[in-house]
Amino acid sequence: MKLPRFIIIVYFVCLSQISFAGDILKGKEKSASCVACHGADGISVNPVWPKLAGQHAKYLETQLYEFQKGADGLRNNAVMYGIALTLTDEDIEDISAYYASLDKTIGLTDDEYLNIGQSLYRGGNMEYKIQACIACHGPNGQGNSLAGIPSLSGQHSEYIYQQLKNFQSSDRSNDYNKMMRNIAERMSDEEMKSVASYIEGLY
Ligand code: HEC
Ligand code: HEC
Repeated sequence: MKLPRFIIIVYFVCLSQISFAGDILKGKEKSASCVACHGADGISVNPVWPKLAGQHAKYLETQLYEFQKGADGLRNNAVMYGIALTLTDEDIEDISAYYASLDKTIGLTDDEYLNIGQSLYRGGNMEYKIQACIACHGPNGQGNSLAGIPSLSGQHSEYIYQQLKNFQSSDRSNDYNKMMRNIAERMSDEEMKSVASYIEGLY
């Protein structure tokens, strides 16, 4: 009976390749210090703090490593710097796997912002050469884990707006190839508010 044993070995090798790097249960325990701001189950109550539930693990890890670098990094945030410093690489993997495993919640798009927000997200702005968000973040705002593109769907509009401002001023510059800075530079304040509100209700 050589064949079955061979198949079992191949099965376990494959399983180890596709399994998550982080441990979800350990991540849940380790996330106790995040709850105050990012909320129970990764749904923050205050809209300036991002929801983390359902975000891609790889993207969360990248951000936490960037926060750890503080002023030497490309996403310097005083609050998250202090917090990220206390995390080991293993903590980062576990916590990211945990938040990625949770369900998102979707908010509402303000009627006032729907038209501009939707047209920018889905069609961009030809006149100002603003690329459509849909090209990278996808039709439902789900992003692309392998390409390092975050999920936006349902995120608080206040937080989204602030990140667009940060890309525009290059306070946040961890976007590979200036993918987001090139876009945010060309956006008006009204476009940022509108697309942020559209994203809050997008799923
Ligand atoms: C005191 C409030 C506070 C606490 C506690 C906190 N965070 Fe944050 N977190 C923030 C704020 C504010 C931001 C937005 C930073 C910015 O604007 O760049 C943020 C952003 C993040 C982001 C980036 C999300 C994205 O979509 O890019 C991650 C990941 C994150 N926090 C993880 C954690 C983890 C893990 C913990 C616990 C170990 C934690 N945070 C604890 C306030 C907090
Ligand atoms: C060419 C691809 C591309 C396009 C087009 C694009 N994005 Fe992005 N976006 C990215 C990448 C990559 C990141 C992650 C950067 C990083 O690692 O910090 C990102 C990050 C973001 C973030 C930060 C999310 C968070 O959780 O902090 C926001 C907000 C965002 N994009 C909004 C938009 C909007 C709005 C548009 C359309 C006006 C848009 N993006 C178009 C590639 C793109």
